[in-house]
Amino acid sequence: MIKLPGLIDPHVHVREPGQTHKEDWDTATQSALAGGITTILAMPNTKPPIFDSATLDIALRAAKQNARCDYGQFIGAGPHNADLLPALANRAVGLKMYLDSTFGELRLDDMTLWTPHFEKFPKNFPLVLHAESRTMAAGILFAAIYDRPVHIAHISLREEVLLIKAAKEKGIKVTCEVCPHHLFMTKDSPLPQEEGARANGRKEVRPRLATKEDVDALWQNLAVIDCFATDHAPHTLTEKDSDNPPPGFPGLETALPLLLTAVSESRLTIPDIIEKMFTNPKKIFNLPEQPETYVEVDENAAYEIKASEQFTRCGWTPFEGWKVKGKIRKVVLRGKTAFEDGKIFAEAGYGRNIRG
Ligand code: NCD
Ligand code: ZN
Repeated sequence: MIKLPGLIDPHVHVREPGQTHKEDWDTATQSALAGGITTILAMPNTKPPIFDSATLDIALRAAKQNARCDYGQFIGAGPHNADLLPALANRAVGLKMYLDSTFGELRLDDMTLWTPHFEKFPKNFPLVLHAESRTMAAGILFAAIYDRPVHIAHISLREEVLLIKAAKEKGIKVTCEVCPHHLFMTKDSPLPQEEGARANGRKEVRPRLATKEDVDALWQNLAVIDCFATDHAPHTLTEKDSDNPPPGFPGLETALPLLLTAVSESRLTIPDIIEKMFTNPKKIFNLPEQPETYVEVDENAAYEIKASEQFTRCGWTPFEGWKVKGKIRKVVLRGKTAFEDGKIFAEAGYGRNIRG
C-alpha cells in the first residue's frame, strides 16, 4: 500500500447548473473521490455560465448541498464583466479566461477584451487561460506586461511546453497543467466507435489529441509541467456519437490509475504525482489544508478500466478496456472514510468550499 495526500484536480467540468443529464455536483464529486481526488476546482462554462454574482450563487448553492468532496468554483471572464468580478474574487477560486473556442458560451475573441481582466482581477488570485499554441504565447506576453501569474490549462503541444520552459527561465510568472489523455494518447490512438455514428465523435476533445512528437516532448519536459489536471469533461455517449459531437473526455476516475501505471513502468515517480497533484496545485491556487486527509492505493493491483464501474454520469471513458496497475483502495477526507473498496461513504453536502 502507498499512502498519498488527498489529491487536487484543478480542472473539472461539473455541468451543474444546466446540464445535469451529463453530470452534477453529486456525481462529479463521487467520481472524484473514487479517483483519489479530494478537491476539485470547477470550471465556469455551465448553462448559464458562472460569470456574475447571481450565477456564482447558483453554483455555490448546488455545490454546498450536493458536493461530497471539497471544491472551488472558477468565475468566467466575459466581454462585459471585468468591472464586477473583483468584488466576487474571494468567493471564487480564480478567473477562467477562454481565449480559444471550445464547449460553452464563454469566449474572449479580441485581445482588447483580455486587457481589463488582466488589469482589474486581484493579483493574488490566479488567472487560468484556455489558450492554445500562438494564443498561449499571447497570454504569456500579457502575463509579462501586466506582471501577474497565469496558469495555462491543458497544454498538449511540443511548442507549448518549450515556450513555457523559456518563459519560466526568463522569470515570467507562468504555470501549466497537462491532462492524462494528452500524456497517454495521440491523435492516432484507436477509440471505440459506435456503429452508425457518423464521425468519430468520441475522439473530439479540446485541445485535440496531438502527435507522438508532441506527447514525447511533454514526457521529456515533465519538470516544466506544474500540475496534472483531468479536464474531466463529461458528455453522454448519445451526444458523443451524434452528428455534432461536443468535445471532451471524462477523466476523474482514470487519472490516478493511469499515472500509477506509468510509475510501475518507471516513466514517473510517486513524488512526481504528489508534486503535480497536491503540492503545486495547492500553492498555485492558494488552497487550505485538509487535515486528516489521505488516499491509500494498492500499487500492485492490476485491473481493466470499465465505464460500467465508474461513478460519473456520462457512462463512458476513452480508456475503456485499458489495463492499469494501481488501484485506489481508500480515501479519508477530514477524518472520515469517504471512499473504500468501490463504495462512496461521504454524504452529499459533506464537501466544503475551499474559499468558504
Ligand atoms: C470542455 C467541456 O466540454 O466543457 N471540453 C473539452 O474538450 N475539453 C471545455 C474545455 O475545457 O475546453
Ligand atoms: Zn476544460
